[in-house]
Amino acid sequence: MELIRLTTDYELKPFDCGDADLNGFLLNDAKHYAEKNLAFTYLLLGEHGDIIAYYSLLNDKISKRDTTNATWRKLKKMFPHQKHFNSYPAIKIGRFAVSTTYKGQGLGSELMASIKMDVSESANYSAFRFLTVDAYLEAIPFYEKNDFKMLISDEENDHTRTMYFDMIRM
Ligand SMILES: CC(C)(COP(=O)(O)OP(=O)(O)OC[C@H]1O[C@@H](n2cnc3c(N)ncnc32)[C@H](O)[C@@H]1OP(=O)(O)O)[C@@H](O)C(=O)NCCC(=O)NCCS
Repeated sequence: MELIRLTTDYELKPFDCGDADLNGFLLNDAKHYAEKNLAFTYLLLGEHGDIIAYYSLLNDKISKRDTTNATWRKLKKMFPHQKHFNSYPAIKIGRFAVSTTYKGQGLGSELMASIKMDVSESANYSAFRFLTVDAYLEAIPFYEKNDFKMLISDEENDHTRTMYFDMIRM
């Protein structure tokens, strides 16, 4: 298996993770996002160049207004008093999907562990504290299993919940 960053000249092979929006993002939008520096997409390729999984990353922040007072208090407790800011730097996993052929075999969790490692190296260059994700409701158990916590459990959005992983654990 090989992990590559999607470039605009890369010829994408078909990909199906069972979710039309995530399939569509990869095929129709990911290159434009890369071109405009809005998100970079990474492909996990199989032996014959088939796409096993993909994810996109972009910069983010967790702000007081993104969460409940109780969770914000919990987050602030991680920092000394003089470091109580109104927001904390983060990297967002904008998209994350595993092909239906490979789902449920532990690959998503392995890929998540490798993302945490890779971004923790980049944190030596530009600091950030959290990984964030807008998790599909069905995928919440997957993120919980990978040590993400709920930022706010009762959002207006019907389809997703924002979750975070504290990079200090790395
Ligand atoms: C969610 C997803 C990325 C997980 O990848 P994966 O390779 O299947 O995950 P793993 O095999 O490492 O882990 C599976 C665990 O995730 C959870 N999980 C994954 N998909 C789930 C689903 N649809 N419903 C409930 N739990 C799910 C389970 O807790 C499972 O744990 P178990 O093995 O103890 O039963 C993958 O199923 C996928 O691409 N789904 C469609 C797209 C999607 O929902 N992406 C997330 C967008 S936020």
